[in-house]
This record gives sequence, structure tokens and C-alpha cells, in this order.
Amino acid sequence: MVVDTFLQEKSQRVVSALEACFSGYTHAPDGLVDAMKYSLFSGGKRLRPALVLGACELMCADDAPGLPAACALEMVHTYSLIHDDLPCMDNDDMRRGRPTLHRQFGEAAAVLAGDALLTMAFYELARTGRADAVVELAEASGVVGMVGGQYCDMQAEGVVGDLDSLQQIHARKTGALITVALRLGALFGGASTEQLEALTRYGRHLGMLFQITDDILDVAGDARTLGKSVGKDQRSAKTTYPSVMGLERARAMAGVAAADAADELALFGEEANVFRVLPQYILERDR
Ligand code: IPE
Ligand code: IPE
Ligand code: MG
Ligand code: MG
Ligand code: MG
Repeated sequence: MVVDTFLQEKSQRVVSALEACFSGYTHAPDGLVDAMKYSLFSGGKRLRPALVLGACELMCADDAPGLPAACALEMVHTYSLIHDDLPCMDNDDMRRGRPTLHRQFGEAAAVLAGDALLTMAFYELARTGRADAVVELAEASGVVGMVGGQYCDMQAEGVVGDLDSLQQIHARKTGALITVALRLGALFGGASTEQLEALTRYGRHLGMLFQITDDILDVAGDARTLGKSVGKDQRSAKTTYPSVMGLERARAMAGVAAADAADELALFGEEANVFRVLPQYILERDR
């Protein structure tokens, strides 16, 4: 309930700010802007921007300084989903409750809408004048972060993976963007080094937890509730928690990651309570 309200509130804030980002694009090709908006405004959970705003608010009792970073991160995340769904990658037909972008607009438009969202993200973030934030997002999104993880995820298809390589893949492809959400919020909220480090550790556990539950939902979830197809990891012989250790142990590992995340918040007072209950919420999520 607390988390639902938090996500709803932050989601509304970020959606309005994202809409405002598009107001300057009057000379852009209509079809491409339509494709970008189709994916961006299709009702994702907005977890990453909510983490940016929540962390910023935790530091300075105001989430407004975190808004440009929250928008930038949601743009990078949405581009990562568009490209993840392409036929050359996971070849998925459904995303956020509708046909994937390449199914609706064609492959070229999907590649280019992803490229444009990535570029737009850095445009919005650079306009804050915070080079440190630009460096953070670049690192988390690129070859040592999400893109690197996606590469390893594809390379690992059909290979019998071990826990170590699995953790590397998950930390990069999903953990990096979730961790940087907290770091960006902390930076824009004026965090101390100690606070930044605590939120970074929290983010790493949360990122791991999030991808383990994503893997579990691909086996045990419902496509309509999730808004995306299920069973696809097994069909592509992906290296996932359930494939490496079975569903029961994967659930146990998710429980450990959730507890580890909550343990990192000792530094903070009751203003961090929503972050304390968020891991359990993610553990129990069905979408
Ligand atoms: C899906 O992310 C891709 C992963 C990294 C597991 P989300 O489950 O956050 O997707 P949306 O944003 O809610 O659609
Ligand atoms: C994707 O992981 C992570 C990204 C960086 C997009 P998945 O391939 O498991 O995500 P879903 O299940 O398609 O949302
Ligand atoms: Mg994938
Ligand atoms: Mg996928
Ligand atoms: Mg998945």
C-alpha cells in the first residue's frame, strides 16, 4: 500500500516531466516521435525514476532536483526494452501490455526510436550542468553496465551457466540502471559520501532482487498481468536463476537479496521507510 502510493505519485510526476521534454520537438519527424512516445507512455511501472525521486527526497526533503535525472533514466530504460525485444535479441511480441514497438512500427523505427531516446536522455541530463551525473549514467548504461550485460546475456544463450556468470549478467544488465537510479537521486539531493555509499549498496541488492523476480515471473507469472510474454527464457535457453538453480532456490535467493537490501538502510531515519518495505514488495510482485 505504502509502496503503491509511492510508485503512483512518483510515476505521475515523471510522466508529466517526460511529456514536457517532448514539447521542444516540433521539428522532429512525426513518425519517429510517435514511435518514441508509443513505448515511453505505455504504462511501465516507473520503478527507476521513482527510485531517483525517492532518493533525492530522502536527502533534501524535495524530489524536484531529481526530475531531469528521473526522466533521463526512464528514457534509457525504455530504449533498453525496445532493443531487448528486437528479433535479433529476445524477439518479443508484447511489452507493457501492447505489441512491441518493432511489431507496431517496424524494425528500423524501433532501432531508431531507441537511439533517439538514448540521445534524448543525455540531452536532458546534460542540461542540468552536472557532468558527474552524466558520467554516472553513461557508465551504468554502456559497455560496463546495461549494454555490456545485454551482450553477455545474448552470449550466454544455450550455454550452461554457473552462478558467478549469472550474477555478472544480472548485475550489469539490470543492476547497473537500478543502482544508478539511487545514486543519481542521492547526487541531486546533495548526499554525503556515506549516504551515497549506503544507497549504492542498497541499489545493488535491489537490482539483483529485481532481475531474480523477473526471471521467476517468466516461469511462474501471468502474461496478461505482466504485460509481456512468459516462458521465453526457457525457449531461448537463457541463463537465469530458475535455469541455474531451480525455482525454489531462486525464490530463496530473492528472499536473501531482499533482506540484504533492507539491511543497508540503518543510516537513515523513518523517512526511508518506503525504501525499507520496497524489497518485500518487489519480492512479492506479480508484474
Ligand atoms: C523489465 O523492467 C526489464 C528488466 C530489467 C527486468 P521493468 O519490469 O521495470 O519494466 P517496466 O518499466 O515496468 O515496463
Ligand atoms: C532485460 O532482461 C534487461 C534489459 C536491460 C532490458 P529481460 O530480457 O529478462 O527483460 P524482459 O523479461 O524482456 O522484460
Ligand atoms: Mg533480454
Ligand atoms: Mg527480454
Ligand atoms: Mg525477463
